[in-house]
Amino acid sequence: MSATPLPSSKADRRSVAIERAVDVLISSRGHANPAQLERACALLRRNAPLHWVERPGVRPFWAVTRHADIVSMETRGREFAAGPRTYLASETSEAVLQRVTGKPQLVRSLTEMDPPDHGAYRAIIQGAFAPPALREMEAWLSGWAAEIIDRVAARGAPCDFAVDVALPFTFRVIGRMLGTPETDDVRLARLAQAFVGAEDPQRRLAESPGETMRMAMLALRDYFEAIVADRRARPRDDLASVIANAAPHGQPMPHYELISYFILLVTAGHDTTALALSGGLEALLAAPDRLARLREEPELMDSAIEEMLRWTTPVRHFMRTAVCDTELAGQPIREGEALALFFHAANRDEAVFEDAGSFRIDRSPNPHIAFGRGPHICMGLQLARMQMRAMFAELMRRTERIELAGRVRRVQSQFMSGVSSLPIRIAFRAPRDAAKRGLSAAP
Ligand code: HEM
Repeated sequence: MSATPLPSSKADRRSVAIERAVDVLISSRGHANPAQLERACALLRRNAPLHWVERPGVRPFWAVTRHADIVSMETRGREFAAGPRTYLASETSEAVLQRVTGKPQLVRSLTEMDPPDHGAYRAIIQGAFAPPALREMEAWLSGWAAEIIDRVAARGAPCDFAVDVALPFTFRVIGRMLGTPETDDVRLARLAQAFVGAEDPQRRLAESPGETMRMAMLALRDYFEAIVADRRARPRDDLASVIANAAPHGQPMPHYELISYFILLVTAGHDTTALALSGGLEALLAAPDRLARLREEPELMDSAIEEMLRWTTPVRHFMRTAVCDTELAGQPIREGEALALFFHAANRDEAVFEDAGSFRIDRSPNPHIAFGRGPHICMGLQLARMQMRAMFAELMRRTERIELAGRVRRVQSQFMSGVSSLPIRIAFRAPRDAAKRGLSAAP
């Protein structure tokens, strides 16, 4: 057996280090190891911020890790299209999924669309995320946060914040908006997590990620087909009825786009915020003075939440494809070439964030791009912030002390990652009387 020769020159060593950093950045496990990921992202931003990646089994693409380059691309939607290659996946997974759908994408919703469909489809649910609709939710949200904390307090044992608090709290928010019953939350959340986190052994429904995604997609499709039939027959005051009866471009939505719309909302609408909540609390607990300071200076809540979003960046990448010959940061990009935008790397960019590797609850300004930018900017960004405010306000109000009580676990996924298990011990203040406030989680 012949040993691989060691790189001889400085340039060779640098090139090996860059390729190793790319391996971390594009691997699911890499995203479950924050220290390793930070080092890889820093190395790439410094030495190869726009790097052409070629790996066996993956179609080549540019890896973009600098904040300025991602912002520049995101705002040049005419040059960089969201479809048809929206996520980084192996050719094997892509082939399995294309056999299921018979389409170039697994789903086709807002994140995969470009004009003119993107605008027409985005307008359908815009009203549900507009300020009046969100204001209507505010009181319900704080009541729901209180009820979740009550449930944990009643159990009186250490809890897993990610599993017992963040997940049920955030899933009911999107479930309530869509109009699905609370009894379906656990099943739907499991399917949604398998769909976007198929690489993670704990989220998998089957041996392979491709098969997991296929199973999750078919189960979600069956579930939402029944919802669509019901809301077409008996429309109600919920988002499912709005989507089921929508007519973008004056025509009913085609079946594939219709089911994709629901799948987008159940996946984008809860895991993201749950990961930001759990990763945010983990960051607060990592140094004893942070939580204490937030208790003493509640006016820092908004900046603390922005810092949690920057720090956790739950959505790790999206992809774009150049629709014409163009350039990025002086680098020519050819028509048809794909680019992966690594939001997490951009949110640690030292050129934009002073002391980027430190979590600071008073960071200001904080131009993070955890929600993306440009025409595809997250539709749920204000809703996510509201949920985080409601939960952290309730935690501050109800608890004397919170401490870590076990090993933290992270999702293995290069698409959506963060803390998936956060065992904590809580010392509660006097119990709250939920009945008196008359608030309940039910829609
Ligand atoms: C902390 C929580 C969240 C994070 C970090 C997050 C992040 C993102 C990101 C990065 C994108 C893509 C932006 C781009 O391509 O430039 C996106 C799109 C989207 N998000 Fe969120 N999101 C969160 C919460 C939510 C919630 C709660 C909802 C809805 C209930 C939601 C609905 C959407 C939708 C519908 C899109 C597609 C927008 C489009 O393509 O036009 N998100 N989100």
